[in-house]
Amino acid sequence: MSRKRFIRTGVVLGVGTVGIPLLAGCGDGRASRSPEAPASPYSPDREVAPGEAIASEEEVEPDSAVLYANTETGQPEVLVRLPDGEFVAYSAVCTHQGCTVAYRRQMQKLACPCHGGVFDPAEGAAVVSGPPRRPLPEVEIELRDGKVFRA
Ligand code: FES
Repeated sequence: MSRKRFIRTGVVLGVGTVGIPLLAGCGDGRASRSPEAPASPYSPDREVAPGEAIASEEEVEPDSAVLYANTETGQPEVLVRLPDGEFVAYSAVCTHQGCTVAYRRQMQKLACPCHGGVFDPAEGAAVVSGPPRRPLPEVEIELRDGKVFRA
């Protein structure tokens, strides 16, 4: 193997070896994260296109949530069923530095694992604590035929 080819092969293998754990740690690997932000351990478990069902009503118990990826934007979003049974949905991209947030049942809040940002899903995802300054953007949803659809 020539020296040039050896270096090229090493670079490809090196990127592959480093790239896989980085992508695994970044959720779906498509979120808009700041390079300074630590990786979020949360990743969407399904993909949903606008107009498609995110989940059936009975699939999401009160005081729980579904983390999914919007196929149009590639960004994570979260459908929350509040303790009173109401459904709300927000972008799951933290407004601080872009880590993926997740619903924490103990707090009944959306929490960011990177720098401790906390948002209240019952109050328009307003910032409760931590460094974020803006609420999570709301996502339009629609209840129809026992299912929750992404508008
Ligand atoms: Fe810093 Fe979420 S990325 S609190």
